Amino acid sequence: MATKTATKPSSKVSKNGTAPKKAAVHPLEPLTAAEIKDAVAIMRKSKKFGERMRFASVGLNEPTKKVVLSYKPGKAVDREAFIILLDNSDSGVYEAVVSITKKKVSSFTHIPGVQASVILDEFFECEAALKADPTFQEALKKRGITNFDLITVDPWSAGNYGDYLEDGQRILRALTWVRAEEGDNNYARPVDGLIAIYDQNNQKVVRIEDHKMVPIPPESSNYSQKYIKEFRQDVKPLDIIQPEGPSFTVDGHEVKWQKWSFRIGFTHREGLVLHTIGYEDDGKVRPIIYRLSLAEMTVPYGDTSITQYRKNAFDLGEYGFGMLANSLELGCDCLGEIHYFDGNICDAQGEVMTIKNAVCLHEEDSSLLWKHTDFRTEEVEVRRSRRLVVSNIATVGNYEYGIYWNFYQDGSIELDVKLTGILSTAALPAGETSKHGTMIAPQLYAPNHQHFFCTRMDMAVDGQKNTVVEMNTVADPMGPENPYGNAFYGQATELKTEQEAQRLIDPFSARYWKITNPNSRNWMDQPVAYKLMPGENVLPFAQPNSSIAKRGAYMFKHLWVTPYNEKRRELFPAGDYPNQHAGGDGLPNWTAEDRSVENTDVVVWYVMGHNHLPSLEDWPVMPVASMGFKLRPSGFFPRNAALDVPPQPSGHCHT
Ligand code: NI
Repeated sequence: MATKTATKPSSKVSKNGTAPKKAAVHPLEPLTAAEIKDAVAIMRKSKKFGERMRFASVGLNEPTKKVVLSYKPGKAVDREAFIILLDNSDSGVYEAVVSITKKKVSSFTHIPGVQASVILDEFFECEAALKADPTFQEALKKRGITNFDLITVDPWSAGNYGDYLEDGQRILRALTWVRAEEGDNNYARPVDGLIAIYDQNNQKVVRIEDHKMVPIPPESSNYSQKYIKEFRQDVKPLDIIQPEGPSFTVDGHEVKWQKWSFRIGFTHREGLVLHTIGYEDDGKVRPIIYRLSLAEMTVPYGDTSITQYRKNAFDLGEYGFGMLANSLELGCDCLGEIHYFDGNICDAQGEVMTIKNAVCLHEEDSSLLWKHTDFRTEEVEVRRSRRLVVSNIATVGNYEYGIYWNFYQDGSIELDVKLTGILSTAALPAGETSKHGTMIAPQLYAPNHQHFFCTRMDMAVDGQKNTVVEMNTVADPMGPENPYGNAFYGQATELKTEQEAQRLIDPFSARYWKITNPNSRNWMDQPVAYKLMPGENVLPFAQPNSSIAKRGAYMFKHLWVTPYNEKRRELFPAGDYPNQHAGGDGLPNWTAEDRSVENTDVVVWYVMGHNHLPSLEDWPVMPVASMGFKLRPSGFFPRNAALDVPPQPSGHCHT
């Protein structure tokens, strides 16, 4: 219910966190469970719905920018679902738009030559089919495994490696592990050398590749509570108390916190999406980002072993962060006064699956905001920083990825990705080691790999028309202009076309990028801007002509800029359907046109890579590795935007 001004979280929101029925809802409100149900029913009734069709995803068909930006509270907006269907009779992929308001299928399009992403049902169907398959059972028995209940199967996406089965067939390449007992960490015991190819359309095993007999590693490696003999005894309680409640308000999916405002979205593929991010300045909300999301994540593995070399997942495009999102728990995943948002997705049959508490919203103390001591007068001014955190966590097989968007009082936004979970492992005969991985237990190693995250930022710095400028710091040569040899300056270069805007980080020139608005100038008569400040980063080590490099070509540049294209959507850097795709789609394809990105509605894509040569301490469960980047105001405000943050109430500080 976005028709009223913001209220306390609980008062205007129905029990399931969605807007009440029949109210005029904001065009970006995610579909409710009831709306998904309606959309599925309309789709199923249509003559176009084939006998063997399944639902790959159902979500809000996001309205055009014009509809969103001209929306007036109280106005009724057509509610539409965007549906991806998979036809199991021939692997066909169909995109449909269903009008829930008009109760009809508005469009229905066949997308040739692509595979839909892996759907959740297929995870379980694949494991069940393998466990019941006599050839697979035989291969396990050869290895001394007779209790098939202790077998676990990870359904890895097949990729594109020239196997004739990849051509037109919908397949998974399943890898196997075995538990020592119920509750035991399966990843301690890979069944190496054994690969199963599974036909998702016909739900049957099509090939068992038994390459070599590798002994199952002998040691258990457990991390769950029941296996920990003694916990440390000196941990005292730490409670977060907000006696007057949090400082944010929630109305439907609209969030307001101090001067920030934005809307929460949730999709099958991206999980958490943030819309219409703005900051109130002088009583007016100034837009900064129209739409913000993690758009893809690719994990190339760097091991030549027959079982390992084809591990390379596109975790959003081939699976889905929303589909794999966790239900978060108070006191464990998040601490303090929390507001949760549920995520509504559906299974293959179109049955609604509500992920309870999929998105967490809360405030955190974040140390120092600013401080100065006037040493002459001993006057101290200090402010504590507080941040608003919006997060969700997805479990993609062995790994966990936490996506945390932090909003700060000085106008900055930060992405903090937390990587944790369990290493995907491999086995070796006793006495052998691997050049391409780290031994983490006897006969057990963790292959080297990388994680590439691509964030899509549909920018709107003080309006839709922006220009991206690269900033490098340059030292003046010694000479008449620099007589003392100390001088350096910031060199600005406008990135005017898509090709010019494909850039890499350069820590030695302190490189960053500014998203400027040449049409809105600050009081020093410069274009207002936000700057994108890179953090940890790396390039892929895969060769440019390798399969993964072709399919994930977006990974080879850290910055891409494209003009916003309403018609083509252009949401995903490796294309809409990377599953089994040969590559070439997405950013490299669109930017070949070399469109202008000067003073226009721009989308900024930032790619960051995490390099993972595993260490012993990453086992048996990885302590969080954090990485991210920052967006900071840069001439957007006339001065420090956090001057009006009040001092701590007396009694909170020692003086
Ligand atoms: Ni890793």
